[in-house]
Amino acid sequence: MLSRFHQPVTQVAKQLVSSAVKKSTQALPAVGPVKIGAASQEVFKRENKYGAHNYAPLPVALCKGEGVFVWDVEGNRYYDFLSAYSACNQGHCHPKIVDALKKQADIFTLSSRAFYTNVLGEYEEYVTRLFGYDKVLPMNTGVEGGETACKLARKWGYKVKKIPDNQAKIIFVEGNFWGRTLAAISSSTDADSYGGYGPYMPGFPIIPYDDLDALEKQLQDPTVCGFMFEPIQGEAGVVVPQEGYLRKVRELCTKYNVLMIADEVQTGLARTGKMLACDHENVRPDILVLGKALSGGVLPVSAVLADDEVMLTILPGEHGSTYGGNPLACRVAIASLEVLLEEKLADNAERLGQLLRDELSKLPKDIISVVRGKGLLNAIVIQSKHDAMDVCLKLRDNGLLAKPTHGDIIRFAPPLVITQPQLEECLDIIVRTVIEMK
Ligand SMILES: Cc1ncc(COP(=O)(O)O)c(C=O)c1O
Repeated sequence: MLSRFHQPVTQVAKQLVSSAVKKSTQALPAVGPVKIGAASQEVFKRENKYGAHNYAPLPVALCKGEGVFVWDVEGNRYYDFLSAYSACNQGHCHPKIVDALKKQADIFTLSSRAFYTNVLGEYEEYVTRLFGYDKVLPMNTGVEGGETACKLARKWGYKVKKIPDNQAKIIFVEGNFWGRTLAAISSSTDADSYGGYGPYMPGFPIIPYDDLDALEKQLQDPTVCGFMFEPIQGEAGVVVPQEGYLRKVRELCTKYNVLMIADEVQTGLARTGKMLACDHENVRPDILVLGKALSGGVLPVSAVLADDEVMLTILPGEHGSTYGGNPLACRVAIASLEVLLEEKLADNAERLGQLLRDELSKLPKDIISVVRGKGLLNAIVIQSKHDAMDVCLKLRDNGLLAKPTHGDIIRFAPPLVITQPQLEECLDIIVRTVIEMK
């Protein structure tokens, strides 16, 4: 594979990068050059032969990660601009999180919830105090968190709101993404997600995102128990709603006695420049779903937080998971949350996110038509005459990994531990790549 890494930055690119950016970039060692060789090809071949074809990975075979960097089997180093879809907010293999994992792994890893453990309560107290809820229900993956939120909303609908049996509805929005279970895809408007998997879960009306009139209309249905949505739509391509949307959603849900369910699996945990994306408008959802970075990319850990009125509608035996709340996950989750706070990663995301968008906005509009995002959850939209996958392959060749979502959109979401000089070097790579597209 041809590497363009050592080609000099063109004159146009130089003009596009601010002088501050250039200055810091020169001080850093070069990334790359990238050569995808036989060892990588072997990895691709084997996965392709023995693994299901439910993903189409970017052709790069990774074997190591540290902080903002990942390495492939040929030893090429890359900036990770995906962070495992925001699971690695704390950076790859954060020493404090890995240490918590190793220490607990030597002591006790799994009891199931058939017994109490000395760790679960400590984690439950920590996480509920941190986010200000009465209780937490621990699960593993993000989609299980979403399923749990839906089940809680329905139980609350029947037991508290007194919706007639089997009639409870949960409102969803177009473009939502909360995983791959049958319930999750039943609420999806993406044909790739739901196509060929019917019949679908009933009781999931879908309205446009960021449309308060449509929401209010739907909320008037007395059989609605919940409104579940992402405060910023991640998979849809980092779609940021109008300012005031979250506050108004809160008001409307309260007015119509419907649970506001915020899926912060991707937007939460410092990614958008606040601990939660809902914090941008000082809004407290009735049910909060967390996942991904709750374990800093170390193992699947998710959580659903709510107050007693909602949480205690589920009784023993009515919901659960063998691994949910296991001692290993609890220790890792505490360490992961502590890292976010100790290293002030929300502030870093806010500051560097602004810098990233400011610089990306200077790129030629005939190649990058839109730059949007909050904190370090960002996306660029590639003009239709260019191919987003092609851009990602060129970025890879230049030492930066990103992946298209929905055709023409590329998400830029580096680990939140990224420093300004590192971000500036990444900007240099992005600018150079875009200029090469001309
Ligand atoms: C907002 C949101 N919710 C839920 C999920 C599902 O998480 P998981 O893949 O861990 O099941 C995702 C995954 O990307 C997500 O972005």
